[in-house]
Amino acid sequence: DQPTITLNNGISIPQLGLGVFRTKGGQETVDAVRWAVEAGYRHIDTARAYNNEESVGRGIRESGVKRRDIFLTTKLWNEDIRQGRAREAFFESLDRLGTDYVDLYLIHWPADGWQKAWEQMEELYNDRRIRAIGVSNFHQHHIEELRSFSDLTPAADQIESSPQFPNQELIDWDHAQGIAVEAWSPLGGTGGSLLENPTVARIAEKYGKSPAQTIIRWHLQRGVVVIPKSVHAERIRQNFDVFDFALTSEDMDALSNLGINRRQGSDPDNFDF
Ligand code: A2P
Repeated sequence: DQPTITLNNGISIPQLGLGVFRTKGGQETVDAVRWAVEAGYRHIDTARAYNNEESVGRGIRESGVKRRDIFLTTKLWNEDIRQGRAREAFFESLDRLGTDYVDLYLIHWPADGWQKAWEQMEELYNDRRIRAIGVSNFHQHHIEELRSFSDLTPAADQIESSPQFPNQELIDWDHAQGIAVEAWSPLGGTGGSLLENPTVARIAEKYGKSPAQTIIRWHLQRGVVVIPKSVHAERIRQNFDVFDFALTSEDMDALSNLGINRRQGSDPDNFDF
């Protein structure tokens, strides 16, 4: 059985999911989602901003696996946060996804007005339209502010993390608060060359696994939810074939200390979108 993590409200999330950032809406997304579910994935992570929610919904339906057996995440976009229309934006996402609930709904970035958005999300959560609510790209100080006005601790914080930017301090802090961490750009995204890194290659070879599988395993063993993206059937399957080996603590440490420490994306304290 694939590993799951129990969120702070008791619901369970499969620890490995398919990410669809930069996956083009239309057939590319439908295929990726369907292939993933056929390969055993039960967790798909999308967002309003990815412009592929309709195709994600279609891919799930075409997979033949029941909606309730899939953990589906989407995210509230910055424009909707700034315009104070979290509730409307949520129902628009549901429409596009073709479903009547989501498992996890996240504030995508701490855009101006996110505090009000959180309150609207709490109502949707209390109405059982969302099984868990959380945040994305929140630093410790954002979450501390959130808790100054809300009794609901976010179930998850989805942040950039990979061996090229481990973000370990924030992960440790989130975990100490009972907040699950989800890693985006877990393989280093598109900008770097993490999958060609010689240390990663050396460790991968030792286990007879690919660099991508090795990095996914590193995330799993750190207790982080990991959502690698691919649009290729072979890679989607390969990325799920990671439950039959374990990295030693020396290899875990080596991957945590590649010494790159460079973000792929924006700092949540300084973004312009
Ligand atoms: P592609 O979709 O063409 O397979 P992230 O860190 O954001 O999850 O980025 C994953 C990047 O690595 C994507 O650009 C994806 O491209 C590529 N990728 C995903 N899985 C593999 C794999 N198993 N081997 C090589 N490249 C991969």
